[in-house]
Amino acid sequence: MAAAPPCPKRCPRRSARLLGGLFCSLAALSTLTFLAGGGHEELLSRSLPLLLAAGGGQQPVGAPLLPADDAFLLVPRPGACAPSGPWLLVLVASAPGHVAQRQAVRRSWGGARRAAGRSLWTVFGLGMPGEPEQQAALEREAREHGDLLQARFVDSYANLTLKTLALLGWAAARCPDVRFLVKADDDVFLNLPALARHLGQLAGPPAAYLGRIHWRVHPSRDPRSRHHVPASLYPERAFPPYCSGTAYVLSAPAAAAVLGAARQLPLLPLEDAFVGLCARRAGIAPRHLAHMAGAARFPPDACCYREVLFSVHSVAPAQMVAMWEAAEQPCSAWQRALGLARCKALAWLAALAL
Ligand SMILES: *[C@@H]1O[C@H](CO)[C@@H](O)[C@H](O)[C@H]1NC(C)=O
Repeated sequence: MAAAPPCPKRCPRRSARLLGGLFCSLAALSTLTFLAGGGHEELLSRSLPLLLAAGGGQQPVGAPLLPADDAFLLVPRPGACAPSGPWLLVLVASAPGHVAQRQAVRRSWGGARRAAGRSLWTVFGLGMPGEPEQQAALEREAREHGDLLQARFVDSYANLTLKTLALLGWAAARCPDVRFLVKADDDVFLNLPALARHLGQLAGPPAAYLGRIHWRVHPSRDPRSRHHVPASLYPERAFPPYCSGTAYVLSAPAAAAVLGAARQLPLLPLEDAFVGLCARRAGIAPRHLAHMAGAARFPPDACCYREVLFSVHSVAPAQMVAMWEAAEQPCSAWQRALGLARCKALAWLAALAL
């Protein structure tokens, strides 16, 4: 072991430098903690049940809104949920034309049948295409992969809420053993091992609703906006806290409660805000998951995608497959230690560069 260097005259200067360094590290650390965010959100999210209770939250919800027998044109092949399972079912909101996105999901995380020792399955939900030729292609795709759920409504942005209700309703009726449902968009990279591990350790009430929470979003009153919500449909000034629709989790009891509440509320065109409203009606508070990216964009970094984050939004098909094929142990010890703070810093720098 090397002996400690003798202390020359420069010592005071060196200790000043040390102090400066310490100060810099502290500043960097607090910046990183700030970037990692979630702190105050986590706190708010934990106090939400109390707030909801104070607002007269829980109301009796009816039986789940289940789709009629003839509601679907295409259904996934039986075997996904029979004779039992899966533990986690991923419901991907897709669209008739999104063939490349579905293929990328199948070739990456959506092709996995197990993660963290749990069984999983991925199903794509869509409506009816505008052009009849597209229907024949969808039927071929359904025969080949057996993972399409096509509901009998026109596939459009304004009908997204119907898509979510169709997916949740189908799952409630056909997959009674499922423990958790994840609703995701078809341009989302899901880190299913990390998510399954987190859900497996989840403590708390059986009705769980988790994701990146949006706080106090005001409905758009501009009729030209694609997010327009007329006051006649929803008069309140803000939506209750809800999980970003890019990817969120509902436990099976929470999904049933949401479907029950959906019967009693006017259908809003924003599927995530609507699910949040249904959850509030059922007395279920959303829980914030800082590891879900929500609408934030993260540059393709295997460490962030495969180990740190649970979901990343706005991932192109080629990037989806590239991230999936990235090495098994993508984080170095340092990257692992910095964790979410490093990924947030990367996202922040990438946004600055744009
Ligand atoms: C939603 O689907 C219904 C049923 O197919 C259709 O009548 C309606 O036009 C669709 N809404 C929009 C806004 O596309």
